[in-house]
Amino acid sequence: MQRCMRQLLTTRTAQLTRCLSTPAIVANMPPCDFVPAKYTGMSNEQMSKIRAENINPAYALLYKNPIYFQQGHMQYLYDTDGNRYLDLIAGIATVSVGHCHPKVNEVLKRQMDRLWHTSNIYYHPAIHEYAEKLVAKFPDPLKVVFFTNSGSEANDLGLFMARLYTGCMDTIVLRGAYHGASPTTMGMTALSSWYYNYPSATSIHKIRNADPYGGIWGGKACRDSLIQPDRDCSCQPGKCEASERYLEEVNDVLTFCSPENKMGLFAHESIQGNAGVMQFPKGYIKEAYAAVRAKGGVCLADEVQTGFGRTGEHFWGFQGNDAVPDIVSMAKGIGNGFPLAAVITTKEIASVMRRSRHFNTFGGNPLACTVGSAVLDVIEEEKLQENAQEVGSFILLELAKLRDEFEIVGDVRGKGLMLGLELVADKKTRKALPTEDFLNIVEDLKDMRILTGLGGHRNNVIRVKPPMCITKADGEYAVACFKKAFQNHLDRKASRV
Ligand SMILES: Cc1ncc(COP(=O)(O)O)c(C=O)c1O
Repeated sequence: MQRCMRQLLTTRTAQLTRCLSTPAIVANMPPCDFVPAKYTGMSNEQMSKIRAENINPAYALLYKNPIYFQQGHMQYLYDTDGNRYLDLIAGIATVSVGHCHPKVNEVLKRQMDRLWHTSNIYYHPAIHEYAEKLVAKFPDPLKVVFFTNSGSEANDLGLFMARLYTGCMDTIVLRGAYHGASPTTMGMTALSSWYYNYPSATSIHKIRNADPYGGIWGGKACRDSLIQPDRDCSCQPGKCEASERYLEEVNDVLTFCSPENKMGLFAHESIQGNAGVMQFPKGYIKEAYAAVRAKGGVCLADEVQTGFGRTGEHFWGFQGNDAVPDIVSMAKGIGNGFPLAAVITTKEIASVMRRSRHFNTFGGNPLACTVGSAVLDVIEEEKLQENAQEVGSFILLELAKLRDEFEIVGDVRGKGLMLGLELVADKKTRKALPTEDFLNIVEDLKDMRILTGLGGHRNNVIRVKPPMCITKADGEYAVACFKKAFQNHLDRKASRV
């Protein structure tokens, strides 16, 4: 009894403290008539204790004062005190159509009562209905799908098939890439914070990233975005010199490192996500494909973050690069948060898997396929790709005004609802904003009930990848919060001197 009273008092005090410190701007968050359930579960303190003692110690918490979520509804999340947050990161570009989307929930519940799982040595309709619908989203000859459970597993399989198909182990990836956390995909990843000191995949060449803002070359005319880097370059219309310079890196590897004059695979994200929404110079990917294919190699587009309409203009990120890959990996948004992922490739490449027996227990699971199918329907019915284009462009253009206003906003970039803001100490050197300052800004945004992600190899990019059902009013609120957070940063800085 005493313990209960103590717990109640602690919770009430915490609620009151939070209430008193809630910034006034929160009152401007667009209204929502959804009422979350009253939370009656485990206390926040108990969750913290269990996390500290019993759960993977490598999981990072972004905030100094962590949040405890209990429920989600479309673009919003609710904490255990019932506070509503605008989710601008969507579990890292994963909740594509909205938290607990009613249509997806409904079909999932129906499938739950019918069939959870069976082996793929039998036929069941969910996998076939979904396979037909998913491959219809791809151009020829990308028509064969393998279902997996995670993006890492999808990239593992993509690399595996490419190597079997080409007979060449050598693979080119870009620095800044994130392709997964399995021992093999860690080898394809080129971001130090995700490495362990452990032998990773061999024969992988990690080449200089083609980054028009932070790299050696690039500038005002290089990016496929409404907003260009604020940096001079000598590119001419229709001729991107930065792209040509970066392509020399690809060609150098092909010249110096191709065993028997061959290359196996070139793998890349269509827009680099964890690297901080990094877009390649125009034409770069297309030309890289041509060079790699000339050596017998195949090309893999990692659409784990960029797929399913997120980039707005296109359904797949690779379409924005004007290049059709030979293998596509996808995860995250495919299942709106359900563990589902896939690889799509050509019949010819897929046929290498017949050399032996390939099996994964949950690949093509009826529940997962039913969810995947409903997600595709919702994207189409609710015109979420179009919404990503419209609302994303609006947010990007508004963020560009903040870049002009604040010295610390070095770059804003991206397409659709895959956006990034790179925060710098000063615009001229593009030196990263000190981590402490960056984290204070992110914490401030959280206090204004805006959830964002962190990215970039220097950990100085705010990532904006919300559920694609976000509205323009949400966007207006978010931009006002960004502005306030940047202003708060300047005030804190002024009070230090
Ligand atoms: C571009 C990209 N590829 C692959 C992965 C790995 O996916 P998963 O975490 O589902 O294994 C991620 C995860 O963040 C990703 O962002």
